[in-house]
Amino acid sequence: AINNKNNSLIMRKIVIYVCGLFMVLAAFACVQKDNVNLEWKKEGQGIWKISVGKQEKVTLLSELDITPQWKAIEEIGDAPLAIDPKDVKTEVVDGKTYIRFPLDKDEKIFGLGLNFKTVEQRGRVMRLHVDHYGGSDNGRTHAPIPFFVSSKGYGALINSARYIDVWVGTSVRQDSSNPPVAKDRNTDKDWTAQPYSDNLEFLIPAEGAEVIVFSGKTMLDVVRRYNLYNGGGCLPPKWGLGFWHRVPSLFTDTEIEREVQEFRDKGFPLNVVGLEPGWMTASYPCTYEWDNTRFPNPQAFTKKMKESNIQTNLWMNPYISPKGELYDRIKPYTSSHTVWCGIVPDYMMSEAQRILIDHFKKHQLNLGVSGYKMDENDGYDSWLWPDVASFPSGTSAEQMRQIYGSLMQKVTTQMYKDENKRTYGLVRAANAGTTSFPYVIYNDYYNHHDFITALVNSSFIGVLWTPEVRASRTSEEWLRRMQTVCFSPLAMLNAWADGTKPWTFPEVAESVKAISLLRMQLIPYLYTAFADYTFKGTPPVRAMNLEEGYNMDEKMLQVSFDATNNPYALAIKKEVKDQFMVGNSLLVAPLFEGEKERKVILPKGKWYDFYTGEFAGEGEIISVSPGLDKIPVYVKDGGIVPMFPPIRQIDNKQYPLEVRHYGNAPGIYDLYDDDGETFNYQKGEFVRIVLTVDVDASNNKMGKASIPGGKNVWSYSDYIFRYMTK
Ligand code: GAL
Repeated sequence: AINNKNNSLIMRKIVIYVCGLFMVLAAFACVQKDNVNLEWKKEGQGIWKISVGKQEKVTLLSELDITPQWKAIEEIGDAPLAIDPKDVKTEVVDGKTYIRFPLDKDEKIFGLGLNFKTVEQRGRVMRLHVDHYGGSDNGRTHAPIPFFVSSKGYGALINSARYIDVWVGTSVRQDSSNPPVAKDRNTDKDWTAQPYSDNLEFLIPAEGAEVIVFSGKTMLDVVRRYNLYNGGGCLPPKWGLGFWHRVPSLFTDTEIEREVQEFRDKGFPLNVVGLEPGWMTASYPCTYEWDNTRFPNPQAFTKKMKESNIQTNLWMNPYISPKGELYDRIKPYTSSHTVWCGIVPDYMMSEAQRILIDHFKKHQLNLGVSGYKMDENDGYDSWLWPDVASFPSGTSAEQMRQIYGSLMQKVTTQMYKDENKRTYGLVRAANAGTTSFPYVIYNDYYNHHDFITALVNSSFIGVLWTPEVRASRTSEEWLRRMQTVCFSPLAMLNAWADGTKPWTFPEVAESVKAISLLRMQLIPYLYTAFADYTFKGTPPVRAMNLEEGYNMDEKMLQVSFDATNNPYALAIKKEVKDQFMVGNSLLVAPLFEGEKERKVILPKGKWYDFYTGEFAGEGEIISVSPGLDKIPVYVKDGGIVPMFPPIRQIDNKQYPLEVRHYGNAPGIYDLYDDDGETFNYQKGEFVRIVLTVDVDASNNKMGKASIPGGKNVWSYSDYIFRYMTK
C-alpha cells in the first residue's frame, strides 16, 4: 500500500511537471505568435509594409497591376510615423489573424468603407463585406475598404480580401495601458455601456495578412499618399464631367434620338446617354449583345450620338445568359453556381478575361461605345453566388466577393487603355486599389442626406461616388438633388425606371437648367481638381475633416434612458456630414427638401460667397437661407475659379475662360489641360497654365495667365479675369 501511495505521488509530480512544462511552452508559443517576425519594411517615403503570418496569394491589391506613383509620393515629403511600431500588436491564432492599433484619447478614425450615415468611425463595430448598402453602417457596403485614416496623421490598409471584422475603439483589454474605471450603474450617472477603449482591433479570417501603413503631416497627406500608392486617382475624359442622362430601360434608338433632340431644343446640357438593360437581347442574365428590334444598327446609333457630341454608356451585370454567343466560350471559366440562371465568369483567369474582352470589343468598343455601368457586382446574399461556391481559378468565393467589382474595373479599364482611349463609367462595387480606375460608385438606396455623407466618406478611401438623381416626390426635392449631383464626380439623372427628365418639374425647370449649366461652366475647375487627384492624389471632392483649419466639431448627445428603445442610454454622435469641399477652394453646403435655412461651418481664414463675391465669414458657423434656386457655395480667400461659358456640351472646341478671383488675398492656380480623351498626358502631353492674381497696397487686382512656352492648349482660348470681391 505504501509503495502504491509513493508511486501515485511520483506519478502526480510527473503529471504536474509535464503540465507545467506544457503551460510554459504554450505561453512561449503564444508570445512567439504575438508579433512574430514583425518587420516594418519601408516601401517608400512614408510607407511601410508589415507582413503578419502566412501571406495569401490573393489580396485586395494582388490582381490589379497597379503602379505606385513614387515620384509624386516623394513630392509629398517624408513624414515620421505618428505611432510607435511597437504599439501595433499582431497574433495568429486558430487560423485567424489579429491586428491591433493603439488609440489616443482624442484620436478620431475615418474611412473603413463607403459609409452612408457616419463619418467618424470610433465606437463602431463592423464586418467589412462587399454588399449592397442596406441602411446601416455595419460594414456591408459597395466599397468596404479596410483602410482607416487617423487624426494623428497616419493610416493603414489591411490588404486582405477577406470579410474583416473591426472594433473601432469599442473593445477594452485587461492589459490596456489606459483602462477605463469601472462604475456602478446603480449610483453613478456617468456610467456608460461603452467604457473608454484605447484600441482599434481587426480580425482577419486567414492565417496572415499584409498591412500597409501610410504617414503624413496631415490627414490629407495620408490620403494623398494612399491614393498615389494605388496608382493615383483616375482622370476622366473631359466629356465625363458633362451631364449624363440614363434613359428608360426599354427605349429604342429613335426614342433616345428624340430625347437627345429634346435636350437640345430646351438648351439642357447633355454629354452622355446611358442605356439600361433593354439595349441587350436579354438581361439578368446578360448577353452583352444588342437587341436589334430596338437597335437595328448600333454602330450607326453610336455614330449619330457622337456627331451630336454624345457618348454612349451601357448598363451590364456580370452574369451571362445561355441565349448569347459568349455562353459556350466562357462556360469553362465560370463558377460552380449561377446567378439569375446566368453563369459567373472567373475574372481571375486570363482566359476568361481574354474571352470577355474579345466579346466587349466586338459588340461594344469597336461599335463606338464609350464605357459601362457595371451593376450587381456587389450582390445581395440571397441571389448572389454563396460563399460555398467555387471558381476554376481556385479563388475562394469570399475573396471573389471582395474583389469582383475591382476585377471588372481593371479588365475594362485596360481594354480602353489599350486603345489609348479614356473611359468613364459607373460601378456598384469597389475595394482597395481601384483609385486609378475611372469608375464612380452608385446604388439604389436613394436617401439624399445619406448620399451626401457617402460623398464625404468616399474621399477617405480612394473611391468616387455619385448621389445620382432618379425621381422625387416634390419639385423642391428634385432641385435640391440636382444641385448636389452637379457638385459631384458624376452629374447624372438616372431615369431607367421613372422616365424623368431634367424638366420633369416645370416649376423648377429653369433652376435645374441653371445648375446643370453651372456644372458645365465649372468643368475647367473640376478637370483640374481631377488632375490633382491623378498627379497628386488629392480627392476632387473632400470631407471637411481633410481641410486645413476645419474644426472637427462633433458632439455626443446624451440620450436619456428608455427601457425599451435605449435601455443603456447610449449617446448619439452628432457630426457634420452635410458639407464638403470640391477642388482647392470651393466649399459646398447643400440644402435638403424641407430646409429653408442651414448652418455652415467655415474653416479658419476668410470665405466668400461664390455667387456674389461678398464676404461670408471667417472660422465661424454661419446661418444661411439662400432660397430654393441656390446651393450655398463658398470660396476661400484668394481662391481662383476658372469657368467655361455656359456650354451644353464638351466638344473639341476652345472656349474663353472667365477666371474668377475671390477675396482680397493674392491667388495662384495651376489650371490643367490636355487632349481630354487619350492617355497621352502620361507621356507629358499636358499643360499647366499658371493663373495668378496680384493684389497691391490699394487693393487693385491684376490677373495674369502664363502658358509655358511651346506648350499646347486644347480647350481654352482666352483668360478674362473677374474680381468677384469688391
Ligand atoms: C439596378 C441599378 C439601376 C438600374 C437597374 C436596371 O440594379 O441600380 O440603376 O440600372 O438596375 O435594371
